[in-house]
Amino acid sequence: MTVTQLDVDALVTQLTLEEKASLCLGSDFWHTAGVERLGIPKIMVSDGPHGLRAQLNEADHVGLSGSVPATCFPPAAGIASSWNPDLCETVGKALAREARKWGVSVILGPGINMKRSPLCGRNFEYLSEDPWLAGELARAMVDGVQSLGIGTSVKHYAANNQEDDRLRVSAEVDERTLREIYLPAFERVVTKSQPWTVMCAYNKVNGTYSSEHHWLLTEVLRGEWGFAGAVVSDWGAVHDRVAALAAGLDLEMPPDLQRSAPAIVAAVNEGKLPESVLDETVRRMLRLVSASMPALAERGDFDEAEHHALARKAAHESAVLLKNEGGVLPLMPAAGSTVAVIGEFAQTPRYQGAGSSQVNPTRLDIPLDELKAALGDDVTVTFSAGFGVGRTSDDEKLAAEAVEAARAADHVIAYLGLPSTDESEGFDRRHMDLPANQIALLEALAEVNDRLVVVLANGSSVIMSTWQDKAAAILECWLSGQAAGGAAADLLVGRVNPSGKLAETIPVRLQDNTSYLNFPGDSGFVRYGEGIFIGYRGYDATEREVSYPFGFGLSYTTFAISDLEVSQQGSVEGGDLAVDAAVTVTNTGTTEGAEVVQVYVRDVESSVARPIRELKGFAKVWLQPGESQRVSIGLDERSFAFWSVRLGRWAVEGGEFEIAVGSSSRDLAVSETIKIDAPSIAPPLDADSTLQEWLASSPGRSLLGRLASPLFRDTELIKVIGTMPMRTLANFGMGMAHQKLDELLEDLRGAGKKA
Ligand code: BGC
Repeated sequence: MTVTQLDVDALVTQLTLEEKASLCLGSDFWHTAGVERLGIPKIMVSDGPHGLRAQLNEADHVGLSGSVPATCFPPAAGIASSWNPDLCETVGKALAREARKWGVSVILGPGINMKRSPLCGRNFEYLSEDPWLAGELARAMVDGVQSLGIGTSVKHYAANNQEDDRLRVSAEVDERTLREIYLPAFERVVTKSQPWTVMCAYNKVNGTYSSEHHWLLTEVLRGEWGFAGAVVSDWGAVHDRVAALAAGLDLEMPPDLQRSAPAIVAAVNEGKLPESVLDETVRRMLRLVSASMPALAERGDFDEAEHHALARKAAHESAVLLKNEGGVLPLMPAAGSTVAVIGEFAQTPRYQGAGSSQVNPTRLDIPLDELKAALGDDVTVTFSAGFGVGRTSDDEKLAAEAVEAARAADHVIAYLGLPSTDESEGFDRRHMDLPANQIALLEALAEVNDRLVVVLANGSSVIMSTWQDKAAAILECWLSGQAAGGAAADLLVGRVNPSGKLAETIPVRLQDNTSYLNFPGDSGFVRYGEGIFIGYRGYDATEREVSYPFGFGLSYTTFAISDLEVSQQGSVEGGDLAVDAAVTVTNTGTTEGAEVVQVYVRDVESSVARPIRELKGFAKVWLQPGESQRVSIGLDERSFAFWSVRLGRWAVEGGEFEIAVGSSSRDLAVSETIKIDAPSIAPPLDADSTLQEWLASSPGRSLLGRLASPLFRDTELIKVIGTMPMRTLANFGMGMAHQKLDELLEDLRGAGKKA
């Protein structure tokens, strides 16, 4: 079937000014505007990132009203723990099939903001504290969705890292931190996968609303990264439609029909907004509509059971086995034994977060039923709620019943987690603790059973240091979608081997997180004072013990990583540096399983502060018992670069770099130090350069040598005056007068020219 697509250039010449203005706004909560007389249809956009929230009749952006039944896949916090881009791509395709069925052209996701603080209420919707991991998984998801003719909206651009005051707060963040931490995930998705749209954030960045941020929306996104799609506002993020248009924001959602269209028309008529700017936006909107048309013409359907099975597979890989003392898992109850299942979440599962991403699931696994089925009829399974979710009056009674059940049982599994009132879009948490009634229950259970298994359901990380020694095993399932219950059962009985790895660090205390003193800010500002040192970069730099490090996760088998070989091709100077890190990974245990090989890079010596290690590549490898595989992970120039504020670009500083490979950020089995040559990035010497800087450069040293001043040879004195600019030394007449300095500078310029 041939599908009509729009002739964008011709249409731009036929549209009236009013029609052009109308195309820059939605026509209602979920639709763009059409122009009937020219055959331009409306298209529909819908949340969400881990399952469709298509509202065919109702409309809200906080998840209050109903939406069509859709598969609820694991939210980002879960699926990120899979460290599996292929899985993300497959889930992306499934999301696209569901979108096609309902005539939705653009899915509003994935959410790829960095987890700056564990307290962010929306962390369940975000992937990681690491930009490389988040960017790589999001890229795969976008590829999956878009391969079936449905668009994505990568969100929320940029620096939307909290919910408190999110519609107004100004994220005060320096450029290097933006470039190295908060922008790279967006950059990767844009440069690799060209998402059809990018959604701007609500908040301000350094005083300017993201929706009006020319530098973010036009200079960086389009100018530097080559984004060709449309920028969509977050719902209600536009304040001044004309300023937003001039900054590069194409589509205002939902539309302020009363004010925005007339304001655009007036601005063009009054010469305040060049019509060419409007035309560019119109072109981008028409291209978006045009790209949507093939899928709308051939909608198709999806197989609910198949998608549920995929949700289960995704939930398997989302779970992280944090602790498994004495091999308490997988559970292998003898025939005739009793398993006590405890915890309200076993019968009322928590599997997704609240707000705009809330899905109306096609079906829902009940963890208790799933576990019973997995254990079979030879085992007796008892259930006690143990605690009330959000209620506390019955807690003592419920806990006492649970303790009795545990006492009578051979195996005890406690399903704990965060109630939905503790985390949601719209507000941030104040602490990271599990509810007190659950911790009290856990302590009481540990008294009567020393092989307690804890299964967790939570979207943001929780503090475990206060209770983890009471549990023999901890399976962190995050919020992992409608099939979470079945997936947990599969993992508990060993039908599936856990393979998830933490996409965020679990700290010992909230106070150890480097954003602690600056979160969530006040008086309209939040200062990103920790700079580039978020997540493991921060815990490593401040040498904090953590409960479970970034990248960590156990398996029912064991792995060995060995024989690192690093090879280097090309050069920084030639712009084609390519480094390859190859290791052998072996399944040294007795069960089939998967290991995630992680590559971290460290600049051994640097002129700027750099993290102790940064993830720059990874690969998930499935191996049979005894099997080995050679895995090679490629690194490029950017893997070694930092954002030089002085040069206004990425820069590699020549010297030694350590490449460490292992199974978590704090378990790096093998490492090798390589030397990378790169052109000097030291600033040219001038009168503002310090004495130390002059002495550190060979022309500077030789020129100073000519002065024959004892001051410049006195190492003790140099410690004191070495940080003074040459101009200041000349002011004080220390070692030289101004005239002498001028001569040195003249000679320096001459030497530079000759070179
Ligand atoms: C959220 C977005 C969402 C939009 C539409 C906003 O409140 O921040 O992530 O896509 O609503 O529901």
